[in-house]
Amino acid sequence: MCGIVGYIGHRDAYPIIIKGLQRLEYRGYDSAGIVLFDGEDTQLSKTKGKVEDLKDKSKATISTKGKLGLGHTRWATHGVPNGVNSHPHYSNSGNLVIIHNGIIENYESIKKALVERGYTFESDTDTEVLINLIEEVKEKEGVKLGKAVQIALNQVIGAYAIAVFDKSKPDEIVVAKLGSPLAIGIGENEYFIASDASPFIEFTNNAVYLEDEEMAIVRLGKEIKLRKIKDDAIAYPNIQELQLNIEEIEKGGYDHFMLKEIYEQPRAILDTYRGRLLANQGIIRMAGIDQNLEKFLNANRIIIVACGTSWHAGLVAEYIFEDLARIPVEVEYASEFRYRNPVITENDVLIAISQSGETADTLAAIKMAKERGAFVFGVCNVVGSSIARETHAGAYTHAGPEIGVASTKAFTTQITVLTLIALKLAKEKGEFTDSKFHELLTQLEGIPAKVEKTLQSNVLIEQIADVYKDSTNCLYLGRGYNFPVALEGALKLKEISYIHAEGYPAAEMKHGPIALIDDQMPVIVIATRKGHYEKVVSNIQEIKSRHGKIIAVVFEGDETVTQLADHIIEVPETSETLSPLLTTIPLQLLSYHIALMRGCNVDQPRNLAKSVTVE
Ligand code: G6P
Repeated sequence: MCGIVGYIGHRDAYPIIIKGLQRLEYRGYDSAGIVLFDGEDTQLSKTKGKVEDLKDKSKATISTKGKLGLGHTRWATHGVPNGVNSHPHYSNSGNLVIIHNGIIENYESIKKALVERGYTFESDTDTEVLINLIEEVKEKEGVKLGKAVQIALNQVIGAYAIAVFDKSKPDEIVVAKLGSPLAIGIGENEYFIASDASPFIEFTNNAVYLEDEEMAIVRLGKEIKLRKIKDDAIAYPNIQELQLNIEEIEKGGYDHFMLKEIYEQPRAILDTYRGRLLANQGIIRMAGIDQNLEKFLNANRIIIVACGTSWHAGLVAEYIFEDLARIPVEVEYASEFRYRNPVITENDVLIAISQSGETADTLAAIKMAKERGAFVFGVCNVVGSSIARETHAGAYTHAGPEIGVASTKAFTTQITVLTLIALKLAKEKGEFTDSKFHELLTQLEGIPAKVEKTLQSNVLIEQIADVYKDSTNCLYLGRGYNFPVALEGALKLKEISYIHAEGYPAAEMKHGPIALIDDQMPVIVIATRKGHYEKVVSNIQEIKSRHGKIIAVVFEGDETVTQLADHIIEVPETSETLSPLLTTIPLQLLSYHIALMRGCNVDQPRNLAKSVTVE
């Protein structure tokens, strides 16, 4: 994880780096650092805490002058979060400086050898080892920085996006990437370096995304030169025009990104099916599926791999694909799948779901499935991300940038894309009549307005949050399509409010969680009138008999559950298949309000990061 930013050009680097780091804080935020270079001296400032702390410290302790700068916001892997372990790191001579996102796995053996040869280390990080290895190579081989970086990187195992400069070369930054993302923004006689394009979007729309095992010498007054790290072959930069706009990455009047993103869902869902869902004509148009239809129709099974919230979207998809398209589906945590020697054949289709498109385990699972011959399809939000590029084909969710660490609109837009795919395949396979197909398309078209209506329960949900904000445990129950929603509701609550929460299939409650129920236990039950309503009603009775507090999410006009529950949150009625798109919304809002009332940092919960680029 971690976010890196660099600048070299005609402007003062300091404000660009600080603002850029703030935009990248979603990637990690336990410590931060900045180095500035004015051509003669470097100024270094590092601290535990957020970029705001770094700003305060830097203003008080360093000169913020310099047209070259590197910055880093950290999610600690090697070494506790503190000033010393924060990046940037100097080499022993003080001439080379590095920022790094990733992990150097063989750093201990390299460090041992460097220590034997007289190198000393201040920090516990793998990064300080790498910069000293680069320095040693540079001195021993008598080569320039670029070559030294290349030779050193051929000796390391692991993942990295790095930016390095040498004080004797004030017009140059060397960057390299393997496994972690790195973008170079190209301005007028200035260059920007960052983990994603958000730090430089107001300065330039032109960017190059480095491919794995590529490095670049970013030199003022020169075009970018790309090389392959392994064999020194020249690579040609593919300059892309960015679609991102600045409003999308600001809070736009909301107190938190999470709230903004919850409220963006009607628009995000609409944008996700716009141009794909043509309900009037009874058509779903998706290039990635159309061009690979045979692969899907002839698939033995679909394997879905993902992590976190995206994995929950995968579980919803399992219900949808099997129910509608009658294709067997397995849903796997990418981290388990990649290491358990799974049986994968050429007749399998693997769907990887990832908001960021950068999750290390998901990426590794994709690579493994490709090697074993499977067709790999990506469902990503971030355009041009590693997963989007690594997959054979894919469909983007058009949620727009998601900055809040707790995923919200990514989840509902992932379900939207997966629903479109399932519906399309079901139609192609002739699994249902034209009228049923048409009805579902029309219902899907109606979802954004229904999400909008659901959001009107915000005040009611805030009141419910006030009642339960001091709870220490919480149970979420759902069945069928809404079982994954229960898992997602529980995840949202624990992520941002630090209340222990568990999601369970409602019927499974009897096999364990029921033992926890007493009059202190809030139980959130998704009890929509479709599906296994009567069964859920029985489960609610069981909770009530044990004095648990019931918060039920129901369809409008519900009578039975309404009489039983302590609190009722209504969502508009829709088909069972589409119900997760609505029932999820109140659970997001409930977590948001509880976290806020408990004084938690909603957008940047402790210990988490938005994009998990380490395994
Ligand atoms: C982290 C984030 C989650 C996200 C998960 C998977 O844990 O905090 O919000 O669901 O990674 O990320 P991805 O980008 O692959 O969807």
